[in-house]
Amino acid sequence: MRTYFLRSFGCQMNDHDAERISALLDGDGLVRVERIDDADVIVYNTCTVRHNADDRLAGHLGEAARVKALDPRRVVVVAGCLPQVEREALFERFPIIDVALGPQHLRELPGALAGRGQRGYFDGEGTLSGELPARRERPFQAWVQVMSGCGNACSYCIVPAARGAQRSRPAAAIVSEVRSLAADGVLEVTLLGQNVNAYGNDLADRVRPTFAGLLRRLDALDGVRRLRFTTSHPRDLSDELVEAVATLSSVCEHVHLPAQSGSDRVLAAMGRGYTMEWYLGRVEALRAAVADIAVTTDLMVGFPGETDDDFDDTLRLVSAAGFDAAFTFVFSPRPGTAAAAMTGAVPPEVARRRIERLVAATQAESRRRHAAAVGTTVEVLVEGASRHGALLRGRSRQNVTVNFSGAAASGAIVPVCVTDSTSTTLRGRLAIR
Ligand code: SAM
Ligand code: SF4
Ligand code: F3S
Repeated sequence: MRTYFLRSFGCQMNDHDAERISALLDGDGLVRVERIDDADVIVYNTCTVRHNADDRLAGHLGEAARVKALDPRRVVVVAGCLPQVEREALFERFPIIDVALGPQHLRELPGALAGRGQRGYFDGEGTLSGELPARRERPFQAWVQVMSGCGNACSYCIVPAARGAQRSRPAAAIVSEVRSLAADGVLEVTLLGQNVNAYGNDLADRVRPTFAGLLRRLDALDGVRRLRFTTSHPRDLSDELVEAVATLSSVCEHVHLPAQSGSDRVLAAMGRGYTMEWYLGRVEALRAAVADIAVTTDLMVGFPGETDDDFDDTLRLVSAAGFDAAFTFVFSPRPGTAAAAMTGAVPPEVARRRIERLVAATQAESRRRHAAAVGTTVEVLVEGASRHGALLRGRSRQNVTVNFSGAAASGAIVPVCVTDSTSTTLRGRLAIR
């Protein structure tokens, strides 16, 4: 019996690809193990969006080298975004790697395990990984990929190089996948794409589906109680989509809308295609249409040429938008991107001070937003036991983690009275129905 060990890094798209790697290897008769020492095949599904993601892989490969030294028949596989960008050079940097595959080439994995020598799979269109089977972590939640790649060219971002041009899956394939997930007991579906708002733009259909149109078709299916989607690009957030979030009962009251910066000058240099005024207008439209909507975001500091005034604009954006949560990053120059060649590098200690101030500002907003939920009753999909003692844990429709007392099965959808809050979680007790 052959065994495999799998670690995945990066975004939800990559986590979903890891589910496909699992399904492919399970289908090939391998058995997953939790300890690297027990594995015949060691798979790292990688991310390369920032430099520290690359560093993490280097650490893990050291561990793989240790166990491979004990048994040289072990196979080390590196999949995902890093090999697609580095290609054969990755084998030179890490001779320990036997197999390297880009994200569109996962289907080759079972065959690659049987080969000899170092083998790389990066060329050609490959398979839209959305079409491959996946092994879900929880029976009642599923990711569904609506598109691969990205049609934008944000000047700092390596994702288009790693994932290729935008390719939308036909609406019929997505509808049929969601229908069969629902029949299989899935209650919550998260639709994935780098810019779901541009879904369908690349399809040659006579009547192109819009993302809002896709949501309407999925909402009409029986069984799925919660529809989520990520990521939305602010430039492409249409009024039609705002209306879909407001009116479709299964679409959750949460939009992840990465702003990146509050400075129009920086936004232009990033190639984001909107201004702070446009961004705040979109947030206002969402809040006007959906009173209890949560808006979350990604923000970056230290983009080349960012001045103190630019950074102050980002702080102003944070207080004006009132984000429910924010992921904050320090700009990391990525090889081959336009921003990596820009002048005006921000000194690391300046970037560090800015990120500290930004984290404090976003946490204060999140704390304020979550405190406003105390005293209300929220709908929670139970995910299991909480890390905090005897409590249960689940997520609200706004995508906030809720720890609560009471008895409920995983996969149940229950009302919870909110009694307390932090900047990241809500706490409460099961409401009596
Ligand atoms: N497609 C999404 C969008 O357009 O907002 C996000 C994709 S990216 C995987 C997730 C986040 O990583 C981005 O929103 C951005 O804040 C951050 N990011 C991307 N490239 C980066 C870089 N070179 N340095 C620092 N952060 C970066
Ligand atoms: Fe990267 Fe921009 Fe595409 Fe997002 S929209 S994946 S930030 S290029
Ligand atoms: Fe990373 Fe690739 Fe996602 S670079 S953030 S795993 S698309």
